[in-house]
Amino acid sequence: MDAADNRLLTESGPGTPGGTVLRSYWQPAALTEELAGERPVVPVTLLGEELVLFRNELGELGLVKRACPHRGVDLSFGRLEDGGLRCPFHGWLFAPDGRCLETPAEPAGSTFHTRVRIGCYPVVERNGIVWAWLGDAPAPPLPGFDCFVAPSRQVFAFKGMWSCNWLQAHEVGIDPAHAAFLHRFLDLDEEAYGLQFRAMVADTGVPVVKLMREVPAATITAEPTGYGFRLRALRDFHGQFTHVRISNCIFPNAIAIAMSPTMTIMQWHVPIDDVRCYWYSMFVSYGDPVDAATLRAQRIDQVILPEYRSRTGVHDRWGFDAREQATATYTGMGQDINVHDQWAVESPGAIYDRTDEHLSPADVGIRTHRRLLLEALRNPSPATLIGAADPAAQRGPAAIDAATTGTDYDAAWRAAEAARRAATGWAPAIAD
Ligand code: FES
Ligand SMILES: [Fe+2]
Repeated sequence: MDAADNRLLTESGPGTPGGTVLRSYWQPAALTEELAGERPVVPVTLLGEELVLFRNELGELGLVKRACPHRGVDLSFGRLEDGGLRCPFHGWLFAPDGRCLETPAEPAGSTFHTRVRIGCYPVVERNGIVWAWLGDAPAPPLPGFDCFVAPSRQVFAFKGMWSCNWLQAHEVGIDPAHAAFLHRFLDLDEEAYGLQFRAMVADTGVPVVKLMREVPAATITAEPTGYGFRLRALRDFHGQFTHVRISNCIFPNAIAIAMSPTMTIMQWHVPIDDVRCYWYSMFVSYGDPVDAATLRAQRIDQVILPEYRSRTGVHDRWGFDAREQATATYTGMGQDINVHDQWAVESPGAIYDRTDEHLSPADVGIRTHRRLLLEALRNPSPATLIGAADPAAQRGPAAIDAATTGTDYDAAWRAAEAARRAATGWAPAIAD
């Protein structure tokens, strides 16, 4: 990786190749819960652009430039009234669709307002997240992924800020090798661990945490799909069965991974600017409806509102405790795997200098994504912007743990995935 390519891969602002690629897909702009309360107006910084998101009295959402087109003041301090957002400086009123409805400082009868617009972007609210379309092309429909088509009772959404470039965050998500190390728990009290690791591997009676600890090395392969690629990690458990873990890269900046036999996580890594990003997670349950109150309570203490900034970070060395590292966890940073991941993405620095890295064969997901992303950056086209041409046709993705005593690993996970989908009544079958 040379410095020029590293820069190409990590820029996201307007007019940059990276910004153009990311603007070819719907991106998460805010959680629905950020618009709760008496005054649904929030400043949003997305892909380096300063914006304001608001909901008017009619329930319509607007995502507009933050600077007033009159003289540039910050409209996140605007008055929410009369069907739009009114600038407190001279009273100009902006509708959710960008029209200027009034310029009340002008003489009566003035039509000046008809010649003014504020820049705005299409938004769609779905299952706890407000999605924004920042592209030049007309907004396509949202993708047909499970997190968008599932009934809202099956989905819980949350977010958090990381102090680093978006690509670092994404590259941890497409690295199935790290789970056996970064998220390893040293003692044997499986009951004490988080949901993800207490789950059993299919019907084997072996907890995932035990498998990861005893069989750290995996055989990882990547296979192209209509939305990006699928990662398959195989671990042979002492000759008794093969653990098959399926995760995904949804090009260019999302992942889908299994959390438990009945729950997957879709997670976007979206730039705030080039040195900060948000992860937006959608937890999708294929079984019982999600317990949103419990899931939120588990996460809300880890962040500082209103920005959802992580409480831990470089300032407190991610809570590192040497004694804990010697006796309980691989990292010494507590049992919350999100904190482990935060250290992994932030500690290389705000924009990691990839001219110094040494990718190994197990980094197949990262190498595959880099190759696809560089192709799209150099030549954005329907062929390289994977999945962008027909987002509504995207399905799934499958993200599941399975086990088999045979050697047809794909048949094993496909059977497990098909069975849990069929039982939902809403999750479509997966073709590719
Ligand atoms: S600066 Fe906004 S109305 Fe004048
Ligand atoms: Fe992780």
